Amino acid sequence: TKNGMKVRDGIFLPNGVRNLSYSKCFKLRDDDIFVSSFPKSGTTWTNELVWLITHNLDYEGSQNNLEKKIIWLDPGIPTNVIDDADSPRLFKNHLPLQFLPDDIRTEKIKKIYVLRNPKDMLVSTFHFYRKLVKDEFIGEFKDLVNLFEEGKTWYGPWWSHVDSFVELPNTFIIVYEDLIKKPFETIKCLGEFLGKKLSDSQVQFLIECTSFKKMKEGESKFKSDAKHSNFFKSDLVFFRKGEIGDWKNYFDEENSRKVDAVVEKKLKFKINFIYEN
Ligand code: PPS
Repeated sequence: TKNGMKVRDGIFLPNGVRNLSYSKCFKLRDDDIFVSSFPKSGTTWTNELVWLITHNLDYEGSQNNLEKKIIWLDPGIPTNVIDDADSPRLFKNHLPLQFLPDDIRTEKIKKIYVLRNPKDMLVSTFHFYRKLVKDEFIGEFKDLVNLFEEGKTWYGPWWSHVDSFVELPNTFIIVYEDLIKKPFETIKCLGEFLGKKLSDSQVQFLIECTSFKKMKEGESKFKSDAKHSNFFKSDLVFFRKGEIGDWKNYFDEENSRKVDAVVEKKLKFKINFIYEN
């Protein structure tokens, strides 16, 4: 990247991650919910669903408070702000597990881990990195694949990120491809995990108000936020394509094999169910 990313504890982190002590040291509540993911895996979509499910499907309410809805831990949120937030607190993080409070590992805390075919995740990452102001990526797609293979994209090796979170107790793994292919079943299960029995019409409502089209309509709200404009160029497209299989337009045989090898040899969790697409 142009300015170089920071390496801390052997992990490559964005410049926007400013204070790692905050994310590690705060007191958890039993009703806290964590949404964790490797970037560009479907975090925003999942967050929207989780917020709506935990707030009586209040679509109007979900359109305000974009920043207040969910506590994004990565930049380093002061402890008093976290302590003062209303329950149930929703947390979002891309930070690897070692940077989060140790109590997240306990059974009582609900965790949601968002997973996506790493090839589509990388295509999404490629477009995103190019629109960063401080961490701008100036390489070609194959260079990003090499970084991925070496575990040097943001937030460290993808395989250890996935493996560390999916094995935690009380974790719901939400798969981007499942949300696209079988949204009804997936959202119903997510609701059950969150302790809500959603009716068929409620699930239908959730599908509609978190559709790619609908969420893209709110894109300007994401980008108009002053905080964001320090990090992203103005032509960033946050809701870019929202599809499965765009990777076929970017990967040649050699790069495709590199990712296959990572999935086969380095990742312990078996993701064939996603990967065969
Ligand atoms: S981030 O910045 O890490 O939080 O990004 P994240 O939200 O994890 O991932 C961004 C990709 O998710 C797509 N997206 C969606 N797809 C389908 N439906 C909905 N509602 C939706 N919302 C976000 C977004 O377009 C990014 O993927 P690509 O492939 O780049 O389109």
